[in-house]
Formats: sequence, structure tokens, C-alpha cells
Amino acid sequence: MMAQPDPAASRRQLLQFLLGSPLLGGVVGLAAGWPGSSLARPELAVPTRPGQALDVFQIKAVARQVLDLPTWHFIANGADDGRTMAANREAFDAWQLRARRLVDVSQTDMSLELFGQRLSNPILLAPVGNQVSIHADGELATARAAAGRHAMICSSVTSFSITEIAAAAQGLRWFQLYSSPDEVLMRHLIGKAEAAGCEVLVLTVDSATRGNREGERWFAKQTDRSKFRLANYEDYAGPPRIGNPAATWDLVDWLRSNTRMRVVLKGIVTREDAELSVARGADGIIVSNHGGRQEESGRGTLESLPEVLAGAGGRVPVLIDGGFRRGTDIYKALALGASAVCIGRPCLWGLGAFGEEGVARVLSLLRAELTRIMQLCGTPELKDISLAALAQRDRAG
Ligand SMILES: Cc1cc2nc3c(=O)[nH]c(=O)nc-3n(C[C@H](O)[C@H](O)[C@H](O)COP(=O)(O)O)c2cc1C
Repeated sequence: MMAQPDPAASRRQLLQFLLGSPLLGGVVGLAAGWPGSSLARPELAVPTRPGQALDVFQIKAVARQVLDLPTWHFIANGADDGRTMAANREAFDAWQLRARRLVDVSQTDMSLELFGQRLSNPILLAPVGNQVSIHADGELATARAAAGRHAMICSSVTSFSITEIAAAAQGLRWFQLYSSPDEVLMRHLIGKAEAAGCEVLVLTVDSATRGNREGERWFAKQTDRSKFRLANYEDYAGPPRIGNPAATWDLVDWLRSNTRMRVVLKGIVTREDAELSVARGADGIIVSNHGGRQEESGRGTLESLPEVLAGAGGRVPVLIDGGFRRGTDIYKALALGASAVCIGRPCLWGLGAFGEEGVARVLSLLRAELTRIMQLCGTPELKDISLAALAQRDRAG
């Protein structure tokens, strides 16, 4: 006589089979909030605590889940078709690493001196405005996460003023300025930054007008602006006139005679403008295309870096931002000759996902990844990282 099938055992077998499938294992892992169970598809893992995140992309996945659509698009948007934003990431693939062996890498040191300040590592926070739309604690949370470890470039269009940010967290802080046709207003902002202890002024020069960020425009009417403040402009008597399409290189001269802070130009992408920056007495340059949010150039910042370095001719430090998501990305820019790297969106993913702890996790992941690649490539100190650590991918082959 044939044995009758046991329905409970069949159900168990079916469940075991399904759980063995990578896709369902991942989905069940997601439902259980347990990334480890989706190891076969780690890209599906969504951490529930910052400490679980293995890289910044997992933190991005959390932010994507928790933020509403307008806020997500505020962060994620690039100009036009997003080609420049994509080019920022793709540019890293043109370079390969040449690792050296049997070098003592038991001690690493990534500290450096920049604009007369001692930094413990070359990872800075890029200026980002209106962070209160991402998390109630906004820039205060970001500043606390960076405090004592990273220099933070504070945007001028923040939801908390530079004075409030300085009171909330100790730490190295620079101030970012947009041009304005109102010189009295610019002097007002410079005065606030100096009083808050900033020693470096970062003038953003890529914003003669606003880039075409269609996602941001599409969701503009749905965006909750109730918490949005232009905190640095609140105690100014006149209107907050931000951006001046008539601004020229004379603005650099004006700034140098109106502040005691070092003046750094953010948004330089050509040799000609690097030469002009030095000729006009700028103290430093940040190669940046605003995270691909301004002109749709289709050109990654890492591709602009060599010509900007050539224009600067070693006379001023050259920093860079745009698409940095891994320690190896940072390493490649340093090897090409950048002095330091600024991080934009990953900090916002951290902020949206887990607030202050999320930003802190993003930064510690990047520090750990940079340390690891310095060890693996046999370059324990920043001064060891040079062009010799790079090979250019042979695209023809
Ligand atoms: C949401 C958002 C807001 C930004 N706000 C500012 C700003 O207020 N001032 C500024 O100079 N740059 C601003 N940027 C540009 C960043 O400073 C930086 O150049 C860019 O984010 C770097 O690229 P990444 O996001 O790929 O790391 C902003 C970028 C984003 C994504």
C-alpha cells in the first residue's frame, strides 16, 4: 500500500525550498529586518541599525525607504538626464590600483595640514543646505557626527545658522558662500562665519543660475516648506538675495579684501579657471560640478582633476567632490594629486536613515575603507599615495 503524503511535511519542504532561493531569502530577510539572511543577495539587505551597514549603499537603501518622495528627490536629483552625476561615478573606473607588497602597513596615518589647520584625515563634509527637510535635527546632527574627526563645510543656506551650529558641536568648520548682488549681505554672512570661528571661506562659483533638476521641480508643490529656514539670513534687514549672475573674478578680489578667512573656490573644472584662481589670489580650489546638479556637462570631476591640478601648478591645494562613495574612490583622487575629498549625498543618506548616528556611520565606513585600501596597496601614509599607485585602464583593449 502506498504511503499517504503528509501535508504538514510537504508544506515544510516547500518552505525550505523557497527559503533556499536567493530572492525569497532576501525578501524574508528584509521582512525580518535581518540583512544577514539575505546574504545571497546582499544588495537587498536593508539594515535596521547604523552599525549593521556594511557600506554607504546600504544606508542609501534605508534613506530611500524612510524619506518621502519630494525629500528623496531633493537629495537624489541631478541636472537634466543625470549624465553628469553618473559620469562622476563612472570616472573612477578609468583608473586601476597598482598595489605594492611587503611594506610595513601596521601603522597608518592619514592626517594632513590644510590652510594652516591640522586635519586627522582627508575626508571633509561638502556643504549642503536645508538639511532640516531630511531630518528634524538637520545640520546640528551632521555637525555633531563630524565633530572632532572631520572638517565640515557649512552651507550658507542652512536651516540652523552657523552660530547655532557652532554652539551645538565643537569641531573644524568652514563656511560656504553664494555670491549676491548685495555686498552688505555678503559682509553680514562673512561676519557671522568669522564670529563662529570659521577660518576658511568657500565661495561656490558654479551657480550663476539654478541647474535644471527636474525631479526637484516636479515635486516642488508637494514639498513641506514649513520647517525650512534660511537661518543665516534671518537677522539681516534686507531680502536674502542669493546668487548673482553678474558676478565675475572681481568677486574674488572683493572677498580677499573683506575677510580674514582663507578663500577657496568651489566649482572649478578647467585649467583656465584654475590658473585664474591662483592669479586672483585664491588660497585653494575645490574641483566640483555640484554633484552633477548644475550644468549637464557629462564630465566627471575626476576627469577634470588633472587639468585643474596642472592649472594650479602646485601653488594652492586642490580638493575635489562628486560621487565619492568608497575608500578606493578617495584613494584614486589622492593618488591623482588631490589634497582632500568632500562627501555630499552619502552624509544625507545617513542623516535621512538614522540622523546623527547615520552620518557618523557613513563617515566611519569611509575612514575604515580608506585605511584598508592604504594598507592593501602598501601606502601607509598619505605622502606615499602617488600616481605610481595608479594604472590607466586600457579602453582600446
Ligand atoms: C541636496 C544637496 C544640496 C546641496 N547644497 C549645496 C549648497 O548649499 N552649497 C554648495 O556649495 N553645494 C551644495 N551642494 C553640492 C555639494 O556641496 C557637493 O558639491 C556635491 O553634493 C558632491 O557630490 P556628491 O553628492 O556626489 O558627493 C548640494 C548637494 C546636494 C545633493
